[in-house]
Amino acid sequence: MKKYISMAFCIFIIGMVNSYAADLSNAQIYGKYCKKCHGINGEGNPAKKGPALNDKSINELFDEMMNLQEKGFESTKHEAMQHNLKVLEQKKGIKIDPDSMAKYIYYSFNPEAKKSNKSK
Ligand code: HEC
Repeated sequence: MKKYISMAFCIFIIGMVNSYAADLSNAQIYGKYCKKCHGINGEGNPAKKGPALNDKSINELFDEMMNLQEKGFESTKHEAMQHNLKVLEQKKGIKIDPDSMAKYIYYSFNPEAKKSNKSK
């Protein structure tokens, strides 16, 4: 009997850890799942064919990510990213919020955003 109780407890803990994983911040998601292809500072990584993101406006980033999510991961353009986002969502339960992720990338990496921060 004790065995079953501790087993149930383990399953409960695994569930907790999983739901916690779905709550990562954009910075954590970026560092874990985006950086390797898009660079530490969004400068891009040619070795992984990841384009730079630090030269894009919030709107461009937002539109791109909306497109990638809305096309239901079916379209053939943007194959690499569609694959990425699908794996994140279906295997890890992490759904990117295009709005807040676009802002995170822009304000963290875009030199234009850094400039306007300084002038304030
Ligand atoms: C395995 C490498 C890889 C990873 C990991 C990756 N990307 Fe990408 N990303 C790409 C490639 C390659 C492209 C270019 C389009 C394509 O082929 O999908 C791209 C395109 C993009 C674009 C559109 C940029 C443009 O110029 O059109 C955005 C925005 C983006 N990625 C955001 C992210 C975010 C946010 C993450 C983390 C959740 C991420 N990427 C993780 C490889 C990657």
